[in-house]
Amino acid sequence: MNWTYVLDDAELLEGHMTAAYPLGINVILARVSDTIYAISGKCAHMACPLFIGKLDGYIITCPCHDWRFDVRTGKFLDATELRLEVYPTKSETGKVYVNLNILV
Ligand code: FES
Repeated sequence: MNWTYVLDDAELLEGHMTAAYPLGINVILARVSDTIYAISGKCAHMACPLFIGKLDGYIITCPCHDWRFDVRTGKFLDATELRLEVYPTKSETGKVYVNLNILV
């Protein structure tokens, strides 16, 4: 796996999310129940930036038209055949990494 550093673990507080751009890819990082999830930062509807949306538990709500996505699976709650890309994460020695599923 190709792991890319995204932020220091201490920067992301419980119940919060932030945007990151590892290798130029728009990713949302969200910490829920002390697990960090990484998901595409562009809404599946019209690509609005999800980092200015709302995080409530495991659910991100898009700021543009209220589509809701589960950060664990990337699934759109109203039609689960639609989903955002989800990326594996890991935390080592206080640093968080994502695997973007691309060759680097
Ligand atoms: S762009 Fe996200 S709901 Fe429309």
